[in-house]
Amino acid sequence: MSHDGLVQVDRARVWTRPAEPPPLIGAAVTTETARWCADWADGLITVSAGHDQLRQMIDAYRDAGGRGPLHLQVHLSWAPTRSEAEATAHEQWRSNIFPPPACWDIDRAETFDAICESGKRAIEEGHTRYTPSAGLRELREAIAQRISATKGPCSPHEVVVGPGAKPGILFPILALVNPGDEVLYPDPGFPSYRADIELAGGIPVAAPLLEARNFSFDLDFLADHMGDKTKLLIINSPSNPTGGTIPRQDLETIAQLAIERDVWVMTDEIYADLVYDDQTAPSFYSIEEARHRTILVDGFSKSFAMTGWRLGFAAMPKALAEKVALLTMHAVGCTAGFTQVAGIAALEKCREDVNAQRAIYQARRDRIVAGLNSLPGVSCVRPSGAFYAFPNITGLGIPSAELARRLLSEAGVACLSGTDFGEQGEGYLRFSYAASIETIDQAIARIRDFIARSSGLTGIGGRDG
Ligand SMILES: Cc1ncc(COP(=O)(O)O)c(C=O)c1O
Repeated sequence: MSHDGLVQVDRARVWTRPAEPPPLIGAAVTTETARWCADWADGLITVSAGHDQLRQMIDAYRDAGGRGPLHLQVHLSWAPTRSEAEATAHEQWRSNIFPPPACWDIDRAETFDAICESGKRAIEEGHTRYTPSAGLRELREAIAQRISATKGPCSPHEVVVGPGAKPGILFPILALVNPGDEVLYPDPGFPSYRADIELAGGIPVAAPLLEARNFSFDLDFLADHMGDKTKLLIINSPSNPTGGTIPRQDLETIAQLAIERDVWVMTDEIYADLVYDDQTAPSFYSIEEARHRTILVDGFSKSFAMTGWRLGFAAMPKALAEKVALLTMHAVGCTAGFTQVAGIAALEKCREDVNAQRAIYQARRDRIVAGLNSLPGVSCVRPSGAFYAFPNITGLGIPSAELARRLLSEAGVACLSGTDFGEQGEGYLRFSYAASIETIDQAIARIRDFIARSSGLTGIGGRDG
């Protein structure tokens, strides 16, 4: 549910309140109470109100200087325990004028304890000043060691740390791509690729990923479109949005083409730790013959649930790494020192946490894929990694963007249209399964109801999960 982007339903917040009832229970919303909330809370308002009142309350909250996104919990009465509150909230939603939210991240992963402890200690110990632009030596060593152990030889001089993986995508593109150079990128794919290519003045060339190939590339397309003007090819495995991984054989074909045609390859492997069924995703960085033209992008946001800490890195040949460090210096200076120290703790102490989180995601993947495949008119390839399902919805006969919009407004299920990831995403939706099993079940039930309500489709078989 969204009102001009101000409201974000965040059910989890209510459980973490102090044991003191919120003041708005069942009450009409007034400017005074909204102001009180702005003073007291960091954006949580618990309210039972009609639509107009809600609108008024949001305005009053903003006028009173309320900060951040407004977290809204529609619920009737304060309950002292999570289960009581949950029961009340469910009851309320059943009869509520608001479409019930479903795919909120109620159970989203929290940054692992060892990382938080390390970050707090680092602040206390004074890691609050500038660091070298390329990153703390100790962190670059830990990263290089990890890459060397899992993908291929890497030295700390080849690593540039940045605030998130995104600078690891943008800065090498800025360093390599001149106006008029062509850059191939996956479609459907992570939207920053195209934006960054355009920012550098390059010409984006969308390279289709094919459902029939488990969302690996159309290799013939690549062979046909890697020409004299092509400077760079971007690959992403496991992929956002498809969850697919690129098989070793395809990577070898791509490497051969890149060498023959003198093309750089950027391999975004930010989901490499989230591959299921005891498999690993083959890494393009492990192909030795192509390493002198490879940029490996990775980061801490996904593996270690550190999205807000802003920590990522890229590994590339030293001469390019020096240019990227220079860009880092002039664009952002450096990455926060305490975040980098926390990153060292992540690499050294959190393998078991990552493994445990992976098992949780795998169970959720199985649940959502089975659920989606049980829906009439929907079929979903089982994603091998990341935390996204990318079902084919062409059987429903509704364009992707319209369907995503209607699922949100009519069923209270949040997902993205496949077209948010490129033209080839038409006919697909993207669901994040960084959500609890209960939420996934509820979302599937709501989509089933929605389908029954809106198209009368019944009994059209989906693919087995
Ligand atoms: C494929 C891919 N690459 C890079 C990123 C950016 O990661 P970060 O938040 O660490 O900048 C994302 C984030 O969603 C992603 O999905």
